[in-house]
Amino acid sequence: MSKTIAILTGGGDCPGLNAVIRGVVRASMLQRGWKVLGVEDGFDGLVEEPLRVRELDLAAVRGILPRGWTILGTSNRGNPFSYPVKKGENVELIDISAHVLENFFKLGAEALIAVGGDGTLKIAQGLNEIGLPVVGVPKTIDNDLRSTDVTFGYSTAVEVVTEALDRLHTTAESHHRVMVVEVMGRDAGWIALESGIAGSADVILLPEIPFSMDKVCAAIRRRSESGSRFSIVVVAEGAFPDSGDKVRKKSADQNFGVERLGGIGQYVAHQLERCLEMETRVVVLGHVQRGGSPIPFDRILGSRFGVKAVELIEQSDYGKMVALKGRDVVDVPICEAVGSLNRVDPQGALVRTAESLGIMVGR
Ligand code: F6P
Repeated sequence: MSKTIAILTGGGDCPGLNAVIRGVVRASMLQRGWKVLGVEDGFDGLVEEPLRVRELDLAAVRGILPRGWTILGTSNRGNPFSYPVKKGENVELIDISAHVLENFFKLGAEALIAVGGDGTLKIAQGLNEIGLPVVGVPKTIDNDLRSTDVTFGYSTAVEVVTEALDRLHTTAESHHRVMVVEVMGRDAGWIALESGIAGSADVILLPEIPFSMDKVCAAIRRRSESGSRFSIVVVAEGAFPDSGDKVRKKSADQNFGVERLGGIGQYVAHQLERCLEMETRVVVLGHVQRGGSPIPFDRILGSRFGVKAVELIEQSDYGKMVALKGRDVVDVPICEAVGSLNRVDPQGALVRTAESLGIMVGR
């Protein structure tokens, strides 16, 4: 039976979003003859008239598989349950979820596929509870979503950081310097940990393990005294010293309800220069980790997630999120995936592996 479905991408972008969109469009049109609508800029596209929605046919998704970005655009601001509206000089947060639901049904679509991280999927779950048939697709380079072994985009980010570490090694060694590399990961240090292991870092600092600056200094000094006159320190943006707090560029109040982190690399470098007689440089990889072409693993995972989301809609199985478990793509309730984050276990096997390899993790 012919159907119309819709898809949106929310939250920060990541490599592989277009693979999901393409997977959804191709599985819907080629095998089922369904029509797919793309909602622009996350839930924002469903807020104001005229709604920002366009039809996605096969031509619209041609050539996008190897490309980063999202053809639909995205936003990490417009939460319909807490939507910022200007009232005179002030901004008030109001609940416009019923209005968004009404707008969605005006499209004549039966179901929505929401591709996003914890924030987007929480909104999707909330809308599902008030009557929107929704299927979630997990996305984040931070890999901090529960109920899936991995999110697409994460592996590409690890590859980008690893390549950067390989490059930074050679210049650090030439100049006998300490290179501090700040990477993304606000609550979970997966990118720092895995790329640090792959890129042979000497120190890895994670949000999950508050670090002792004295111990970091001592570790680098020991290394230098043993003849290795350079060091690579990978620090996740959400890492913080045991004596302090996360380093923020903007508080949540100043940044639409989401803290903007950044600056911990500079802090660590400054502290290292105070305790060591070594030149130090800071490299902040930032959004380079989120842009560019997805590696094959993420293209395949994104495509599989897109196809699975269509299958769930075919079975009218809503309120579910697609997920990778082992080698299988399965579905789990969205409510199980959101709420608490998938963080690195400080006592877990991966951290112990790093320590066994001689990598210092700040403790
Ligand atoms: O996608 C998550 C993330 O990569 C975080 O690690 C980072 O703090 C955030 O995005 C930055 O997002 P933006 O600069 O787009 O607001």
